[in-house]
Amino acid sequence: MPALSSSDLVAPPPAPRPVEVTDLDAYRRLHAQSLADPEGFWRERIAPFRWTRPPDRILEGDGPGARWFVGGQLNVADNALDRWVDEGHGDRTALIWESEGVDHLRRPLETRQYSFRELRDAVARAAGALRDLGVRQGDRVTVYLPIVPELPIAMLACARLGAVHNVIFAGFPDQALLDRIEDSQSRVVVTADGGYRGGKAIALKSVVDAAARRTSLVEKVLVLRRTGEPVGWTPGRDHWWHEALERATPAAPVPVASDAPLFVMYTSGSTGKPKGITHGTSGYLVHTALTALHAFDLRPGDVNWCTADPAWITGHTYTVYGPLLSGAATVLFEGVLGFPDWDRAWDVVERHRPAVLYSTPTLVRAWLRQGDAGPRERDLSSLRLLASVGEPISPSVWHWFRDVVGGGRTPVVDTWWQTEAGAAMIFPLPYVTPAKPGSATLPFFGVDPAIADAEGRLLDGEAAGQLVIRRPWPGMLHGIWGSPERYRDTYWKSVPGAFVTGDAARRDADGYVWIVGRTDDVIKVNGHRLGTAEIEGAVVSHPAVSESAVVGVPDERSGEAVLVFVVLKPGFSADAELESGIVHAIEAMVGKLARPRELRFLKALPKNRSGKILRRMLREWAVTGKVTGDTTTLDDASALPPSTDGELVDHVQRGIE
Ligand code: PRX
Repeated sequence: MPALSSSDLVAPPPAPRPVEVTDLDAYRRLHAQSLADPEGFWRERIAPFRWTRPPDRILEGDGPGARWFVGGQLNVADNALDRWVDEGHGDRTALIWESEGVDHLRRPLETRQYSFRELRDAVARAAGALRDLGVRQGDRVTVYLPIVPELPIAMLACARLGAVHNVIFAGFPDQALLDRIEDSQSRVVVTADGGYRGGKAIALKSVVDAAARRTSLVEKVLVLRRTGEPVGWTPGRDHWWHEALERATPAAPVPVASDAPLFVMYTSGSTGKPKGITHGTSGYLVHTALTALHAFDLRPGDVNWCTADPAWITGHTYTVYGPLLSGAATVLFEGVLGFPDWDRAWDVVERHRPAVLYSTPTLVRAWLRQGDAGPRERDLSSLRLLASVGEPISPSVWHWFRDVVGGGRTPVVDTWWQTEAGAAMIFPLPYVTPAKPGSATLPFFGVDPAIADAEGRLLDGEAAGQLVIRRPWPGMLHGIWGSPERYRDTYWKSVPGAFVTGDAARRDADGYVWIVGRTDDVIKVNGHRLGTAEIEGAVVSHPAVSESAVVGVPDERSGEAVLVFVVLKPGFSADAELESGIVHAIEAMVGKLARPRELRFLKALPKNRSGKILRRMLREWAVTGKVTGDTTTLDDASALPPSTDGELVDHVQRGIE
């Protein structure tokens, strides 16, 4: 094996407990085996799970239709809960939840803990209640809940019945909720009267009511009481969670086929319509559980804190399924970690003593801005491993995280993956892979990343280009809900035989992968994925707007920020009222996550001769004040000023906040 060349390597700390893979050569051997002989590699690794029918074949097919663990049958909730109870671990802690609200001593107003047995029983009862509402195997259930224990309970209850959960972030407006209910064809919605976020009560049931009024699809709504605020009620359709659960008899886990869908997760792409990324059962389970072990070293009895809301993919995989499938406890925090201030995270660590803290660079930057006192004054000695996801983490932030939060003794596991991937794909083995801060390093077993040029040709050695995945991996998506063609066209077309991730990346001389950013029209704000086309759709819904282009620009706080270019219809001019009307339209249709940092008004948008908006040019102009590329394709030279002085355009810049 060639020695690693770079001088920016950080040696991994020694493993505190015995690990399967003990050095980099062993990793390389196993990785090569996982690609060359999937049958041999995975067969023994899937044995510990509880299969009602073991798979006949490990992998069948290639490309978009590939399927893992074919012929097998199991139930994910059974493996996450009942298995531990039946193996004698029923009294171990499975879930630790604390409310956002605190008393004058910074203690949470409420905490709840569930053992594996208690969580299994709660899930079985919730599954019974869903079954009483008519939910059967394969049905989609939309879950629109705040971050309370009932959110993972509802997810696991669906999984127990073989139903498909479709969890929607509780900050989304009714339009986004309606689109996702309709696209997934959900007849049942699980929600709450409201939830707490950032120190405020937010209403949720009324948002469901507003969405349900505009579709005939929703037949049953199960409503959790959380805030106690009054809610509207539709008799026959609406049922209280506590009453339904009390009436219900516990449901047993329903064994399902390996390729049965487990959940749908909507995410933004390059069109205005979010994609219902669909994940299957056994492949997702195996990839999730084995990365929980190899990336985070999670084992029975450990405590894991992934700060992601269960409503996003990171929350599905590493707040809910990963820890429970590992027999570990998961910490669930109700609201925003800046409440009552950014030291809250250190209170949570001190109180619940997690071994693993998995978060985003956006959050780590927020902590870093507060200085070192908060983490230094608390006892963070339980932390054994830190990890990051969602955006590139800069070396200075990486070092601060390790030195100040991890006391200089923890690895920092930078994990690259995406909604489509199901679970972590590229990351260092914490006690084996030398880190290079800013690089997600090397692929997990079964993952075969490659770099392709713009024409789709695969590049060897050191290279930069599109990041593609050359063969199927266990947690890979099974498709886009209801759109098999869109699935093939989006991911499997432009680079023959490979899955196109939508990211640009560089591979260095050591084979380490460095993520550069998205190549499509997706931007990352506070680690959340937003489609520029969705935001543009909301902007042009404003009656004064003729055209719009949205770009993402680098932002110290949020990673990227939304910048909106607007062309008004004749007779309208930009003023504060019009600006707030446009911002309101964005918040109402896409959500507050998409709130722009700035609006700029132009007389025209730069387009090429076939009418395509040159967003890249707008972005360059916004970031650098200049346009360096080829402008000969510009249809209307006056659309873009040659320099920052903007003499050719009448652009108004106003900070929104
Ligand atoms: O651009 C990459 C970025 O986040 C995108 C996936 O976003 P989402 O589907 O919301 O899933 C986020 C959490 C899994 C990727 O295409 N991304 C994710 N992880 C990293 C990253 N960029 C740099 N470094 C990472 N570790």
